[in-house]
Amino acid sequence: MELTLVKLNQLSWSHKIVVSLFVLMMGYSYLFAQLNLQINTRRADGDTSGLGLATIRDIEITYRGNRGRTLLGSKINGSMEQYLSSQEEKISIEEWIAQGRTEQGYQEIQYIFEDNCISCHPYDERPDYPLETYEQVYASAEPDMGPSIGWLARFTHYHAFGFGVFSFLLSMIFLLTSFRPTIRLFGAVLPFVAMFIDITSWWLTRLISPIFAYTVYLGGMLMAISLATIIIGSIYDIWFSQVTE
Ligand code: HEC
Repeated sequence: MELTLVKLNQLSWSHKIVVSLFVLMMGYSYLFAQLNLQINTRRADGDTSGLGLATIRDIEITYRGNRGRTLLGSKINGSMEQYLSSQEEKISIEEWIAQGRTEQGYQEIQYIFEDNCISCHPYDERPDYPLETYEQVYASAEPDMGPSIGWLARFTHYHAFGFGVFSFLLSMIFLLTSFRPTIRLFGAVLPFVAMFIDITSWWLTRLISPIFAYTVYLGGMLMAISLATIIIGSIYDIWFSQVTE
């Protein structure tokens, strides 16, 4: 025998108010999660202009890093460009980075650093940044690999844990609405599916391919849809549906 729990629209006034406030508060918390996404993730690609959603590229950089970017590569196109004696030198350094920073290739560009850079690297204000040996120059051209695995593990743990509890409470409430059983089950399961797609895709983007930035997006959209369904559906059911015995 299936245990029949009370329906939302049969609750006492005080319970209806508390359940409604809880559901609305969860929506409120979600809005701030979105605001965080808009303010922080959207800027990952360095383009902060205008409004709008985080792009696929923003998501890719957030979880995977901007792998085409290195400190040395940006500096020779930025504040250090003036010290190079020609554009050819810049191109040679860029090619060396693109071709895997080999020790053999370094012998051919070493003179560039000796002629233009080591007078200042290291010097008193930057003793921490010598550019005198292969190892030092190699290290200055390390690609940006994005968040560390440790950081991502912690981020995943917090999200999966917090979101599991959050979704469980909302799903249990939605199961007490008077919608058809298939709708109730669908609404209650969707946030878990969405979260699973989202979180798993962070890892796939980090470890396997930037293509999974699309499934991060998909997970996020499903999450928004499922929360809107639960929140609007539950509030509607509590206050506007007919009580059926
Ligand atoms: C006149 C002195 C001077 C010369 C010559 C010079 N640099 Fe610099 N470099 C600096 C200073 C000062 C900074 C810190 C300010 C900045 O990042 O713009 C710096 C920063 C850097 C950084 C970033 C280090 C960090 O930790 O942020 C790199 C990489 C770099 N230089 C590479 C080069 C290369 C390559 C050359 C030769 C083409 C070169 N520099 C020539 C003074 C110099």
